[in-house]
Amino acid sequence: MKEQISAILLEAKEQVADSQNEGEIEAIRVKYLGKKGELTAILKQMGSLAPDERPKMGALVNEAKSELECLIADKKTELKSAEQLKKLAEETIDITMPAKELKVGKLHPLNTVLDDMIDIFQSMGFDVVDGPEVETDHYNFECLNVPADHPARDMQDTFYLADNLLLRTQTSAAQIRTMETRKPPIRVICPGRVFRADEVDATHSPVFHQIEGLVVDKGITMCDLKGVLEQFAHEIYGSDTKVKFRPSFFPFTEPSVEVDVTCSECGGKGCRVCKGSGWIEILGAGMVHPNVLRSCGIDPEEYSGFAFGIGLDRLTTTRYKISDIRLLFENDKRFLDQF
Ligand code: PHE
Repeated sequence: MKEQISAILLEAKEQVADSQNEGEIEAIRVKYLGKKGELTAILKQMGSLAPDERPKMGALVNEAKSELECLIADKKTELKSAEQLKKLAEETIDITMPAKELKVGKLHPLNTVLDDMIDIFQSMGFDVVDGPEVETDHYNFECLNVPADHPARDMQDTFYLADNLLLRTQTSAAQIRTMETRKPPIRVICPGRVFRADEVDATHSPVFHQIEGLVVDKGITMCDLKGVLEQFAHEIYGSDTKVKFRPSFFPFTEPSVEVDVTCSECGGKGCRVCKGSGWIEILGAGMVHPNVLRSCGIDPEEYSGFAFGIGLDRLTTTRYKISDIRLLFENDKRFLDQF
């Protein structure tokens, strides 16, 4: 039996040494040490031995078993680390390979300027509201103190969709919608696209952008309008920018003004951008006309307000020295990639 044990052990050792992977080594373990394994079988034969032989043989078998167990365990770790090394070698990254180019999207220049404007007005306590691009005659004209036969309708060439339906010519329509749904104190801006059947050239487009502003409360005066617009101009163009209010006319404000800022290109000396005047017109504004307040159910004896409409496209073209407004709408990647 002693020879049998060493023969089995010898054979098992050779097989362990030859095994190539974890599957093979497990099969060897089962073959010799498993429930029906060869060494286990020897233990079962113990009963046929003389009683005084049994402890000696038992010890021999157990020794052989634990020697084999140790060998198998060692081989297993060896195979495992070899496998790991192989895997690592396969997964080596060549850091000298050129990287894949990552294309990152970015904001359209109009949106960059709009985001800045929203920040400025929000810091002054304005809410941002939205209004529809398809409007009714009622909101775009009627409630803004422009009745059907009013000559001011000719100031803005309108795209009509149906009898009473049109593409809004001004974000001022949002003033009315706001006053219908909110009670004073009101402080909102409404940015959006507007549409006019204008001749297209370097400074005119049938689609452009405005930011409407509206403030209504008790005791609002022209001074508040001036303060807000000056603050805005200083933040967007720098604190030495001068602001000029020129008397003007809009049917929905009284008095009305157009507002110029010193040309950011030449600082007011006069250049190509400001056509030699030193000033750039950026918005129309005024005190909300009593008729407009009344049409929204706000008592003009109790409340007053101001409104303004800023041209976003002009602001953008002057900031980025863009020579032609049409570039903002053509979505030419070669142009957009420059921002
Ligand atoms: N809606 C006017 C325009 O489009 C601008 C404006 C807005 C003027 C608000 C006064 C008050 O020209």
